[in-house]
Amino acid sequence: MLRAAVVGATGIVGQQFIVALDKHPWIKATALAASERSAGRSYKDALTDEKTGSFRWFCDEPAPADVMGIQVQLAAEMDIANVDIIFSAIESDQARILEPKFAASKPVISTASAFRYEKDVPVLIPGINSEQSALIKVQRKVRGWKGFITPDPNCTTIGLAITLKPILDAFGIKSVIMASMQSLSGAGRSPGVIGLDILDNVIPYIPSEEEKVQRETQKILGALVGDSIQPAPFAVSCTCTRVNVREGHTEAVFVSTQKPCEPLDVAKAMQDFAGLRDSGLPSAPNQMIVVHPDPFRPQPRLDRDTDSGMATTVGRIRKDGALDNGIKYVLVSHNTKMGAARGAVLTAELLVKQGFVG
Ligand SMILES: NC(=O)c1ccc[n+]([C@@H]2O[C@H](COP(=O)([O-])OP(=O)(O)OC[C@H]3O[C@@H](n4cnc5c(N)ncnc54)[C@H](OP(=O)(O)O)[C@@H]3O)[C@@H](O)[C@H]2O)c1
Repeated sequence: MLRAAVVGATGIVGQQFIVALDKHPWIKATALAASERSAGRSYKDALTDEKTGSFRWFCDEPAPADVMGIQVQLAAEMDIANVDIIFSAIESDQARILEPKFAASKPVISTASAFRYEKDVPVLIPGINSEQSALIKVQRKVRGWKGFITPDPNCTTIGLAITLKPILDAFGIKSVIMASMQSLSGAGRSPGVIGLDILDNVIPYIPSEEEKVQRETQKILGALVGDSIQPAPFAVSCTCTRVNVREGHTEAVFVSTQKPCEPLDVAKAMQDFAGLRDSGLPSAPNQMIVVHPDPFRPQPRLDRDTDSGMATTVGRIRKDGALDNGIKYVLVSHNTKMGAARGAVLTAELLVKQGFVG
């Protein structure tokens, strides 16, 4: 059994890591870390508001009893000698300082964006660009690390990149336009989105999000050439908005393909996409993409939990008359499961299988 540290364990994504690792067959959470606010307290006490006594557990699943007594360490001083892998769920500015310290000796799988755009750092989605993990060898050589950093993509990029992959393989892509309707949990909890700002409202701007989605999609769907990734040559343009939904990002996607195709061909390419089928990875969904025939789906409330939040659900695949060879569809992807913690655990499983961890 691999021993894991979860850094940022008290946050929304950190709690999802605790759930994702609960009864995991290969990996167990044995060390937890967070900020000065939580350090020195048991996990249970760190999650309990000192003034009101409120237990600030966010996940739908109950809080696993066996981690409640673990003492939360200060992330900057965490003892990592006795762990085999580190899951990082902290903000990017802290990740920039802490993750290289950990990576000098241990594998770090991160949900933060700090290192996503560096040349020697792969942004992995198992089943989509698993082969890009070869960059880890380059990273170790360049930086002199025994460990490494692999960040997972932004929670909005992940559903987009997954659904574009079968289209790219079957028909080629000229350009992509996307408008997102992103959930509140995507903004985290400290401070997160203020209730009165989002009630009866849509917020049309999420700082840095659009640039992240555009760059990451091109990197993930790019090609590993020599010691670096050649970004996919098609343009990606998006508008990212925040809506009054608790969990699950919805995206309206418009694709101009190289070869003409019919909506049924796209649906078939997505349904048949092999992805992680027969991969043997414990957190892998049965199907990476589930295509819904009902024109009123996908909906975040009904579809985000498909296959434990690990499948991307697609519907409304139809022709788009405004684009050359235009196809459009709607997707729903779970932002704190496949888009964060469970997705990062899946990445760890891939890296175990590939021999980079353990
Ligand atoms: N939410 C999502 O859907 C989502 C999806 C993909 C990626 N991400 C990324 O995942 C990361 C965590 O997001 P989140 O939504 O879980 O945020 P969050 O709910 O605000 O949690 C932040 C965590 O970071 C800890 N922290 C704060 N300052 C720290 C410091 N100086 N040193 C160490 N730990 C510190 C907090 O600990 P205390 O409780 O002790 O303050 C808490 O555990 C971010 O980089 C975010 O961009 C989030």
